[in-house]
Amino acid sequence: MSHQKEPAIIPIITIDGASGTGKGTVSQLLATRLCWNFLDSGALYRVLALAAQKHCVALDNEKALEVLAEHLDVQFIAQENKLPKVILEGEDVTDTIRTEPIGNSASIIAALPAVRAALLSRQRAFREAPGLVADGRDMGTVVFPDAELKIFLTASPEERALRRYHQLLEKGINVNLSDLIEELRERDKRDQERTVAPLKPAADAICINTNGLSVEDVVNRIVTEITRKKAFPVISTLTGMKLVEALEVTE
Ligand code: C5P
Repeated sequence: MSHQKEPAIIPIITIDGASGTGKGTVSQLLATRLCWNFLDSGALYRVLALAAQKHCVALDNEKALEVLAEHLDVQFIAQENKLPKVILEGEDVTDTIRTEPIGNSASIIAALPAVRAALLSRQRAFREAPGLVADGRDMGTVVFPDAELKIFLTASPEERALRRYHQLLEKGINVNLSDLIEELRERDKRDQERTVAPLKPAADAICINTNGLSVEDVVNRIVTEITRKKAFPVISTLTGMKLVEALEVTE
C-alpha cells in the first residue's frame, strides 16, 4: 500500500453577483474570518481600464489591451478590515480605480474575450494556502469551476443603486442617484449579455437574495452553508482550529 500523500487541495469559495449586491464587503469579511486569501477580480479589470487610460489605449483595441493585461505591473497589498491596497506601476491607485467612469470602462473591456483570457492565470495565481475567497462575476463558472462552495448574490436594482450611492458618498464622491441607476442598468446588461463569461450563477451555486440583509447576515448565511458542505472536512484539516473559531456564527 502506498503512503504517498495526495497533493493538498487549496479550497475556494466563490462569491459572484452584480455590483451593489454587497459582494465585495461580504467576500472581504468572510476571507478575514477564515484567515484565507482574497481575490477582488473586479479590481483587476478596473486596474486594466486605468492602465489603458494612462497609456492611451482605446477601449475597443482588443489586441493592445490583451498585451497590456499580460504585462500589467500590479500589486495587491492586504490591509486589515479594508479592501487591499492596489499599486499600478508603483503608484497607489486604490481610490482612483473605484470611480464610476473607471467601473464603466472596466465593464467595456471585460466583454473582450482576449482580455478575459489574458487575466485568467493572474486570477488563478491567487489560489494559495490555506484557502481563497474569490469575488467577481465568473469566479464559479469560469475561473474556479472546481470551487468547494459557490455563492451567487442578488438584490433589487433600487437597493443596489442605493448601496452604491451611500458607498460613494462615504468616500466623498458625489453622484446623482438616477444617473447611478441608469449606469448600473447599462453595466448589468453588458455583463449579462456578453458572449464570454456572462454574469450568471454556476449550475451548482447557492443563490442568496441580499435585500434587507446586513453584511453580517449574509456572511452568517454563507458560514452556515460552509458547515453544511461535505467538503468541510477538507477545509478544516487545512486550516485547523482557526476555521472552527471563524465558523462560529456571530449574533
Ligand atoms: O466588481 P466591480 O464592479 O469592481 O467590477 C468592475 C467591472 O469588471 C464589472 O462591471 C464587470 O464588467 C467586470 N468584471 C468581470 N468579471 C469579473 C469581475 C469584474 O467582467 N470577474
